Amino acid sequence: MADRPPRSGKPAKAPPLGPPVSDLLPDRPSLSRVREAAAGCRACVPYARATQTVFGEGPRRAEIMMVGEQPGDVEDVEGHPFVGPAGRLLDRALEQAGIDRRLVYVTNVVKHFKWEPRGKRRIHKRPDGAEVAACRPWVETEIALVKPRLLVCLGAVAAQALIGRTFKVSQERGRFVPSPLAPLVAATVHPSSILRARDDETRRAEMDRFVEDLRTVAAGIGNPPRDPAGSR
Ligand code: URA
Ligand code: SF4
Repeated sequence: MADRPPRSGKPAKAPPLGPPVSDLLPDRPSLSRVREAAAGCRACVPYARATQTVFGEGPRRAEIMMVGEQPGDVEDVEGHPFVGPAGRLLDRALEQAGIDRRLVYVTNVVKHFKWEPRGKRRIHKRPDGAEVAACRPWVETEIALVKPRLLVCLGAVAAQALIGRTFKVSQERGRFVPSPLAPLVAATVHPSSILRARDDETRRAEMDRFVEDLRTVAAGIGNPPRDPAGSR
């Protein structure tokens, strides 16, 4: 694990940027070579206050890929995607939807944690359009290498980056949309939006809807297997 970044204070001036992602992509890409290249990426500002690049993880030939926004505080420190509170909620939702998380490749459209200090805490800041555009070649390369049958965008940042700028998650969640990225492409909410629900009842309802979206889209590739007795 890399050293923790300073917990407060802005860098005195704009950090030096490295070459764009297009210059870092290996000639003969494999997931491990791309991961290694991404580890040294300094193509946009958030790298400077993050601990490390958090690359995607999962089986090389995963049938399902899920793409979030950017690593959170825990992911930044541990170096793995979706291992903090949002990741635990995603684990529970996948389990309830009958999807084996070990068969899912999980990643993010932006690979460094962007944050600002609030007291002793590091508060997530949404990546801007330029950062999403700068980082997108990494996730595009992951998609091209893994070739999932089903690609699921989690939240508006991922959906707008990968499906289209005007995509509205609230209106189009849980349905397939035509896309050259994978045979089946859909979006749903980000699991952290469920963590932010205003009360328990809302949270439960939002969780149920999230699970339902995951179940619906996974049914597109025949997962989970249909219950022959039709008892569910
Ligand atoms: N939120 C994300 O979008 N991705 C993570 O990896 C963790 C939290
Ligand atoms: Fe590179 Fe993406 Fe990190 Fe920006 S956020 S420095 S493009 S890995």
